[in-house]
Amino acid sequence: MKQALILHGPNLNLLGVREPDIYGTLSLAEINARLLEESQKMDLQLRFHQSNHEGELIDFLHEAASWANGVVFNPAGYTHTSVALRDAVAAIRIPVVEVHLSNVSGREPFRQVSLIAPVCRGVVAGFGWRSYLYALHALADLIAEN
Ligand code: DQA
Repeated sequence: MKQALILHGPNLNLLGVREPDIYGTLSLAEINARLLEESQKMDLQLRFHQSNHEGELIDFLHEAASWANGVVFNPAGYTHTSVALRDAVAAIRIPVVEVHLSNVSGREPFRQVSLIAPVCRGVVAGFGWRSYLYALHALADLIAEN
């Protein structure tokens, strides 16, 4: 069976209570549960990780290259700052789909720049928790094509 990593960056452990007007009311566990349910219809096995630490996110990406067929990645605040995460995504040979709950293109200017998007296969943003759902489907299609 094909396998994918769902990787969540900093502060996403606080989903549900963190700025719910922007990020919605679902907790991270609830989002993960919905993705797990969806993946069972898709014949795709998921693993989930969240970290508030840049280096740990880099380690998860490096490790994923040895077992996963692809990654759905919300780099959260690091999206806009992290050359090191960009380099990690570029270094691994599996497809990575960047995802954001909010529509980062319509927010503050500093959020409109992603250092990571150019090395991803694509970006899904602005659909709340469903951004993850659509990103999962996009990733599953990419994996199926290979
Ligand atoms: C986010 C958008 C980022 O700008 C922000 O720092 C986050 C969440 C999103 O999912 O909308 O933490 O990645």
